[in-house]
Amino acid sequence: MYTDFLVLEKSPCLQGISELSGAKNAVLVIMASLIATAGKSTLHNVPFSHDVFQMISLLESLGAQVVIEADIHSLTIDTSSIMYYSVNADIMKKMRASILVMGPLLARFGKAAIALPGGCLIGDRPIDMHLNAFARMGAEISLDGTYLYAQAKRLTAERFILAYPSVGATENIMMAATLTEGKTTIVNAALEPEVFDLVAILKKMGAQINLLPAGVIEIIGVKELQPVTHTIIMDRLEAGTLLLAAAVTGGEITLPEGPGHSLEVFLEKLSEMGHSIDIGIDGVGIHLKATHSPRAVSFKTMPYPGFPTDLQAPMLVAQCLADGVSTITETVFENRMLHVRELQKMGAHIELDGMVAKIKGVDTLYGASLIASDIRASAALVIAGIAAQGTSTMSGIHHLLRGYQDLCGSLQKLGARITVKSEIA
Ligand code: EPZ
Repeated sequence: MYTDFLVLEKSPCLQGISELSGAKNAVLVIMASLIATAGKSTLHNVPFSHDVFQMISLLESLGAQVVIEADIHSLTIDTSSIMYYSVNADIMKKMRASILVMGPLLARFGKAAIALPGGCLIGDRPIDMHLNAFARMGAEISLDGTYLYAQAKRLTAERFILAYPSVGATENIMMAATLTEGKTTIVNAALEPEVFDLVAILKKMGAQINLLPAGVIEIIGVKELQPVTHTIIMDRLEAGTLLLAAAVTGGEITLPEGPGHSLEVFLEKLSEMGHSIDIGIDGVGIHLKATHSPRAVSFKTMPYPGFPTDLQAPMLVAQCLADGVSTITETVFENRMLHVRELQKMGAHIELDGMVAKIKGVDTLYGASLIASDIRASAALVIAGIAAQGTSTMSGIHHLLRGYQDLCGSLQKLGARITVKSEIA
């Protein structure tokens, strides 16, 4: 039995141009949404990360036919042959986003069953908002051992006021509502760009969706949805991660496809640190020239358009190597600071009080043996490892592979010294 790990070495200033992949947090929900149609759809700009392959396995377990064209980043998914409606524990355990099949299954078949997803390291990840919404729409929710069932002869349109702009709950309610007669309203809906990519494909399928001011989404149910062709938006989180790798190594990179228009709060913080940021026309294209004397900045993670929780860990690394004291508060997940103890091993000066990290910048970090705990923590540790003096190793690279198509490959092309090793476990 072999286990892979990364060897990360102090790298020269990252230089060059990097392509981006499609957004992981758009493609997963969009693949799930195809369940609401009966036919053959094609998706382009698909990032082939491990989570995407998990979602392919899930759709095939429901009876869908999937053709992968990895060389051109495309997927063709035929949902006309879907005949099952339950998601087993093995799939749910590997990918929490599987909960997103409940809405489209309920919409099309009036029933869905999932093995309880359970939490993960960054938090309990409850699904109460999803289930309460389905119950209010008329679904009967029941628990049988480790399976959760939702059944409804006919869903009813409702008005939902979300206590928190949950991305997944917004997406699941919207997908269920597309085939539910009447007008469903979501107040305080999530506004993440990935949610709007879902809106875009649902409208292409024939869904009637109105985007009203101040986070209100209205969905008027239709009789059926048509299969479509759709190109996934670029991954703003991969873009932010690459920019931070260039920032901490004092480099200069260009992301021609970088979605500057959906990273504004994050890019503003990089500018406040002293990095030079240029955005292309219509907000597409990002160029960063790093300062060699970065100033520390503070921030709180917030729902979009606030500072994205998925860039908190990599940005925290940049503060460890900036001049001054900064405070970073994680407000979205209750346990998303597991990367702190790994950075402390590298010599970072961080005091953690709950989800508030107080960081005093140091001149350098030192290589250490690191353990990744979740997708974004793994990216943060890669960034720390290529900035630190000496050599680091990082285990838990399956987290990295779940969230990114090939982050290490992109960084290597920019000059990062990263190698993948195997050892007998
Ligand atoms: C999505 O997760 C993303 N995942 C996450 O990305 C992202 O961090 C998150 O949105 C916030 O932007 C995908 O899109 C696949 P939420 P989701 O519902 O939908 C609580 C990554 O690294 N909550 O907005 O699960 C929840 O516990 C991943 O790419 C409830 O309490 O996020 C959390 O504290 C990580 N009850 C907060 O809301 C519910 O029913 C935000 O969760 C649902 C959520």
